[in-house]
Amino acid sequence: MSVVNVNWCETLSRLHEYVVPDLGVKFIDRELEFEKLIKHYCRGDAPWIHVITGPWGCGKTQFARAMTYALQFSSDYVVFYVNLSEEELDRVFYPTKPELQDLVIKLVIEVLGGTVLKLPTNLYRFVKYVVERLRVRGKIFLVIIDEITRSLDQYRVSIRDYVASLSLKIYDISNEYSCTFYPILLTSDQTATELFIRERGKNLSTHLLWNLPKEALTELLQLLNSPLDTAVVWYITGGNPREVLLLMREYRWELIPYIDARVRDVVSVIAEYIRDVGISIDEVIHQCRVAVENPDYLSYQRFWNYLLRYNVAMYVDARLHRLSTIDRCEWIGEDCAFQLPIYYWILRAIVDRRRLRVTARDVLEVLRSRTNIF
Ligand SMILES: Nc1ncnc2c1ncn2[C@@H]1O[C@H](COP(=O)(O)OP(=O)(O)OP(=O)(O)O)[C@@H](O)[C@H]1O
Ligand SMILES: [Mg+2]
Repeated sequence: MSVVNVNWCETLSRLHEYVVPDLGVKFIDRELEFEKLIKHYCRGDAPWIHVITGPWGCGKTQFARAMTYALQFSSDYVVFYVNLSEEELDRVFYPTKPELQDLVIKLVIEVLGGTVLKLPTNLYRFVKYVVERLRVRGKIFLVIIDEITRSLDQYRVSIRDYVASLSLKIYDISNEYSCTFYPILLTSDQTATELFIRERGKNLSTHLLWNLPKEALTELLQLLNSPLDTAVVWYITGGNPREVLLLMREYRWELIPYIDARVRDVVSVIAEYIRDVGISIDEVIHQCRVAVENPDYLSYQRFWNYLLRYNVAMYVDARLHRLSTIDRCEWIGEDCAFQLPIYYWILRAIVDRRRLRVTARDVLEVLRSRTNIF
């Protein structure tokens, strides 16, 4: 299979033609990630499975949809995006060509009995059906499956078994249809990510998409007419677009109630940890101190499993290829990171105040004393 030569300038510019549906604004940033994933990892030399993870709400779904949009203009690619968290069949697929939309909906009804969650474990049938109606010969064929764990959980398929089967299927599909086939699996579930990481090497790589960088956050805030200072939003959300939306839509850019709600989230995770493990509040505060002094020490404690499970923190170590550039900050270590900086500042406030029930004002005080914002 020859490596294709895409007109990158044109394809990259297409990325920003995609409109983010719930905001009605043009898709921001992500050129670097797009270029790395497509040009480097899906360049058409050999079939491979790619798993992409990242903080909850960092923009994985929108990235995948924008990529699907941009690549439809390249004759070298056939791309399907499938979102397993959507209930309505009309919204499950994102092939921008209407004839493809009808085709895949028919497939789900006729072949999968109307249940789209069966698609990942019936990928071969899906591909066969699509290939009979579309030309994939000589092309790079991407099937992006968003929220992959929904299907695996539903049918109790282990990640190990799924990868073992898929890692052979990608060769069968590529050989049978003379294409290069790449399943791209998306998940925010950090427990599942750990299991995918263990399968690396079985024709599978794991990648990390991070929150938006500072410049992109500035652009987003301008588009949303934010009254807040970019530096403040940066130190709270770290460029996480879902968090910015939440701050705008649910809290009308009011920091105090937003931070109070986040404090409650963190305290409920800590409370569950205390209940399960039966340790004292002083001991937890000590563990918080270790964590904020160096986030990399977090994973040596049992507390880590809780932070992972509730998407407070995650691994960012070398087992994950970084699609995004991640600058070192207080809340991001070499191996472990808080998904949002606000979680880091809340733990800092807990440590400084030596109590769990800190207030938004305590957190803002910590921010004020440790950064030059406000
Ligand atoms: N590049 C972007 N430009 C503008 N807005 C964005 C961008 N990426 C994400 N968003 C906004 O952020 C929201 C969250 O993004 P998205 O749903 O893609 O995150 P996610 O990582 O898939 O979340 P989850 O972890 O829940 O799967 C979107 O609804 C969208 O409004
Ligand atoms: Mg998503």
